[in-house]
Amino acid sequence: MKSIVVANSKGGCGVSFLSFLLADHYNLHCVSNSDPKLDFRSLDIFSGSASRVPKKMLRAYDTVYDLRAPQDKLALLIKDLSAVVAHLIIPTATDAVSLCHTVELARFAQTLNLPVSVVINNYRTEKNLSMVLADLRAQLPHTKIYSLRYTTLFGRLSYDGREWLEKVHHTKGEGRLLNTLHQIHEMFDQVLGFTGGCQNA
Ligand SMILES: Nc1ncnc2c1ncn2[C@@H]1O[C@H](COP(=O)(O)OP(=O)(O)OP(=O)(O)O)[C@@H](O)[C@H]1O
Ligand SMILES: [Mg+2]
Repeated sequence: MKSIVVANSKGGCGVSFLSFLLADHYNLHCVSNSDPKLDFRSLDIFSGSASRVPKKMLRAYDTVYDLRAPQDKLALLIKDLSAVVAHLIIPTATDAVSLCHTVELARFAQTLNLPVSVVINNYRTEKNLSMVLADLRAQLPHTKIYSLRYTTLFGRLSYDGREWLEKVHHTKGEGRLLNTLHQIHEMFDQVLGFTGGCQNA
């Protein structure tokens, strides 16, 4: 599968969690510029102060990049990656600051001809979602936009790690979390499917 990058210059938007779930679902290696403190199967970390992605970590296949940096630095990192990745996923929280960072990053990626999808993440009400969706559609008319509601799945994953994720199919009373996980996987397939990002090399 072609590599992908997940990023936002605003913290706490769900970049590391979505990277983790993508890595788990598609069996990807992760490269991060932070210590995501999540139970990745395979992880390389480079310095959070670096403004270039180390050459040896530029991988066109089977890698998800989990990136968080101030806007200027993130633009340089994404520029490096635009030569190797097939897609940029920008998770965003619903507050005005996160949306502003998201729009700026999406517009920048468009100048690089890098396919972009935005995931409105961690929203709580349908009203909140529809307001944010309308705002983003107006500002980014050509960008695919997806959504992921607040879920207790993420807290469970931080606590129990990948081992639980692997066993969730065999446990009882966790149907709702499993359902959420399936919905997230379907969203990933949709996000990546239309650019060929999830097709095998
Ligand atoms: N959809 C969601 N439902 C519930 N909690 C969520 C959701 N998305 C993110 N979170 C929570 O928000 C917090 C931040 O998520 P995450 O670490 O993935 O963000 P980040 O963008 O990587 O932030 P950082 O700036 O720390 O790198 C975590 O505690 C995570 O559990
Ligand atoms: Mg992170």
